[in-house]
Amino acid sequence: MKEKGKCMQTPEKKSQELGKFIVFEGIGGSGKGTQIILAKDLLIKNGFKTVYTREPGGIEPAEEIRKLIFMLKNEKLINAEGQMALFFGARKLWVEGVVKPNVDNGINVLTDRCHTSTGAYQGYAEGGNQKQILAISDIVLGNYKPDAVILLDISKETFINRRGNDINGDPFDKESPEYFDRLIAGYREMAKTGWGGLNWYVVNGESGVEEVSESVTKVLEEIFEKKLKRL
Ligand code: TYD
Repeated sequence: MKEKGKCMQTPEKKSQELGKFIVFEGIGGSGKGTQIILAKDLLIKNGFKTVYTREPGGIEPAEEIRKLIFMLKNEKLINAEGQMALFFGARKLWVEGVVKPNVDNGINVLTDRCHTSTGAYQGYAEGGNQKQILAISDIVLGNYKPDAVILLDISKETFINRRGNDINGDPFDKESPEYFDRLIAGYREMAKTGWGGLNWYVVNGESGVEEVSESVTKVLEEIFEKKLKRL
């Protein structure tokens, strides 16, 4: 297991096993929200202490930045670099307030999105500089890099079908079909090349909830090196 934040831990905490930090990724409508709750329940049932969180947000002040980003994006007042700055600002608060305390205390953190979303959205879809995104990630995440990224992969057509008319105020979901082409291709490329030096797992998100959940469970068995009792 990777050692995270070693220098920041008390001697007593050093002997404790660190929690795993696992990201669920994918475009809107990929089913992350449902799958992350099923995964959390499954891990808890199997005796692993686990919490789930989301980005941007997951902690009060970062939720405020989330609202600001959505407003600025809706009003077309912010470009890729501005978005990067705000997403990473929110992320810094979240890493300190949610990720570190849990991971250091042996609690697994499952998150709906992380800096990997910045790579896909602000990098591939919005044209931001990937080298800069990776450099800021090093500053903001430091030793707390995810142990694994589970990408729920769906097609643009499935996204459009699932979204329907329900856009929920998310300005990124209102983008053009070409934006989603860049986003989906970007995510696939990130998984293929191991973007960020991370362990990527791709799960086909096209089928029903139970089938996708079984595929996610198999990935979790690989990550935790343990056969898991099903829900
Ligand atoms: P959310 O409602 O959580 O979307 P979803 O249900 O699709 O996960 O809204 C988060 C939106 O912010 C989402 O459309 C993707 C976008 N986003 C970025 O563009 N960059 C980022 O770094 C993150 C974390 C999210």
